[in-house]
Amino acid sequence: LGHDIYYYDQVDSTQTIAQELANKGVKEGTIVVADEQTGGRGRMARTWYSPKETGIWMSLILRPNIPIQHTPQLTLLTAVAIVQAIEEISGLSPVIKWPNDILINGKKVVGILTELQAEADRVHAVIIGMGINVNQNQDHFPDHIKEIATSLYIEKGKYFTRAEIIQKILLSFERLYDQFLKDGFKPIKLLWESYAISLKQMITARTLSGTIRGKAIGINDEGVLLVQTEEGEVKHIYSADIEISK
Ligand code: BTN
Repeated sequence: LGHDIYYYDQVDSTQTIAQELANKGVKEGTIVVADEQTGGRGRMARTWYSPKETGIWMSLILRPNIPIQHTPQLTLLTAVAIVQAIEEISGLSPVIKWPNDILINGKKVVGILTELQAEADRVHAVIIGMGINVNQNQDHFPDHIKEIATSLYIEKGKYFTRAEIIQKILLSFERLYDQFLKDGFKPIKLLWESYAISLKQMITARTLSGTIRGKAIGINDEGVLLVQTEEGEVKHIYSADIEISK
C-alpha cells in the first residue's frame, strides 16, 4: 500500500482529492497527503482543523471486494493500525473510543473519516481519511478544542517526523489489511476491543436521530456498536458521538 503518493503543500481536503482520483480509477493503496488543509472535514459535518506542517492529513484509497455493510470494519481496522503505529514510534498508549476517535489521556489525537463510493451493493472505493495531531503545542489549537484535543508533541514532549509516522501506519495497516482479507474481521475485532475504552460502560450516544443511553455491551461482527438500554432492549448504533458516563 501507499506506493502511489500524491503530495500537496496545500489542499482544500485530501478526501476531496482522493474521491476525484478514485473516480479516475487509481489503484488500491494510493494515498493523498497534504501539509495543510483549508477545508478539512470531520465526521458529522464538522470541520477538521489542519494547520500547516504540524499534523498528518492523509487519505487512503482502498478497493476491497467486500459487501457494503462490512465497510465500517475498515474504519475500526484503521484505528487499530494507527494505535499500533503510535505505540511503536512514541511508547505512548493511545486508546480507541468507538467508532474511531483515538485518545491519549482523555484527549483526541486522531480522527478518522471513512467515505464510500458504491453502487447498489458494490463497493467501488473506500476513502479513509486520517487526521493526526503530531507537532502542535497547546497554543496552536483554537479555543473551542483546546480542552479536548492533544498532539503527540504535547503528550511526549518531543517532536516527531511525520514521514516516519506515515511509514509506520502504512506498514501496520498493510499487515492488518492482509489479515482482514484472508481471515475476515474476527482477529481485527479482538485487537480493536483490546484498545477500546467505551465498552462495558454506561454511555450516552448522540445520533442524528436522537440520544440513546445505556451500557455499551460490545460491537457486532459488522463493527456496529450494541447498547443495552435500561429497559433491556439492545440498540444498534451505526453512527454517533459517544460520551462515557461517570
Ligand atoms: C473526525 O474525527 O471527525 C474525523 C476527522 C478526519 C480528518 C481527516 S484529515 C485528512 C482527511 N481529509 C479531510 O478533510 N478529513 C480527513
